[in-house]
Amino acid sequence: MKKLILDLDTGVDDALAISYALGSPEVELIGITGTYGNVLLDQGVRNALAITDLLGHPEVKVYKGLPHSSTTDSFEVLDISAFIHGENGIGDVDIPDSPRQPEIESAVDFIIDAVKTYGKDLIYVPTGPMTNIAAALKKAPEIKDEIGNIVLMGGALTVPGNCNACMEANISQDPEAANELFHSGAPVTMVGLDVTLRTLLTYKETQQWRDLGTKAGEFLADMTDFYIKAYETTSPHLGGCGLHDPLAVAVAIDPSLVTLLPLNMKVDLEGPTRGRTIGDETRLSEPADTTKAAVQVDVPRFLNEFMTRITNLAKA
Ligand code: BDR
Ligand code: CA
Repeated sequence: MKKLILDLDTGVDDALAISYALGSPEVELIGITGTYGNVLLDQGVRNALAITDLLGHPEVKVYKGLPHSSTTDSFEVLDISAFIHGENGIGDVDIPDSPRQPEIESAVDFIIDAVKTYGKDLIYVPTGPMTNIAAALKKAPEIKDEIGNIVLMGGALTVPGNCNACMEANISQDPEAANELFHSGAPVTMVGLDVTLRTLLTYKETQQWRDLGTKAGEFLADMTDFYIKAYETTSPHLGGCGLHDPLAVAVAIDPSLVTLLPLNMKVDLEGPTRGRTIGDETRLSEPADTTKAAVQVDVPRFLNEFMTRITNLAKA
C-alpha cells in the first residue's frame, strides 16, 4: 500500500485534505508535517492533532516543520486568512484540543527518514508553502531520486493567481522554496488553481454531512460553510468554494483524475511577477522528465470521489 505524508498549513481545505486521505483505503497516512500559511505553525499543528482525533485517527503522528521561509525572519498570517479560514484556521469552529503533542522529531527529518524507509512507495503532498520539502532536499539531496512522487497544491499556469495577478497563495509565502523544488530533479506534479478552481463545493453537499448526525459530520459542515461564505464575498462568480488541497490528495492517489502537461517549470523570484509559476525558458529544449502541471480535471468524477470518501469517514 502507498504511504502518504501531508504537509499542511491546516486551514479549512487542508482539513478536507486530511479527511480525503483518511477516507481513502488505497493509502496509509503515515504522518502530517506542519507548516505555516493560513495560520501560524503552532496553530496549524494544533488543528492537525485535533482533527485527526475528531475523525477517529489518533494514530496519525504530527511533526512540526519550519515556522517561516528561509528568506524571512518571522511569519505573520495575512489579514485575508482569518476571513477565509477563520481566526483559528478551521472556520472558527470550536473542537476539543488533542491530549497529544507533536512528535519530537522535526518534520524535515521525518520526511527524510520516511523516504529512506518507503522509497518509491512514498507520496508527499504539500498543501502550504514548500519550505519543509525544500529544506529536506537541501539536507539530503539524494531523496530526489528515492521518493515516489511529490504532488503539490500551489501555483497557477493558465489562470491568474489568487494573491495578485501572478501569485498563488502557497507559492507566495516561499517562492524560493518552490523554485528549488521545481529545479531539484525530484518528481513533482503541480496541482494549481488551473484545476482547483473548477472543483467547487456548495451548501448542498455540506448539508449532507450535517444530516449524518455525527460529530465529524457536524464539524466538517460548519467549518466548510464558513469557507463557502467567504468565497461568496471574494469570488461570487464561482458559485462555491475551491477544493484546492483535497484535489491534490486525490491526484496523488489517482493521477488519472487530471490531464498532466510535462513542463520544466520555474518560479519568478524578482520584479513584479515574483511568485509566478511558469515554464523555464532556459530549459525549453531539455526533456521535461520530472515536473508536470495539471491542466484539466474530471470534475464530476472527483466530486463523486470526494463526497463518497468523506461521507463514509464522517459516518463512522
Ligand atoms: C491554497 O492557499 C491556502 O489558503 C489554501 O489552504 C490552499 O492550500 C490555495 O491557494
Ligand atoms: Ca493549504
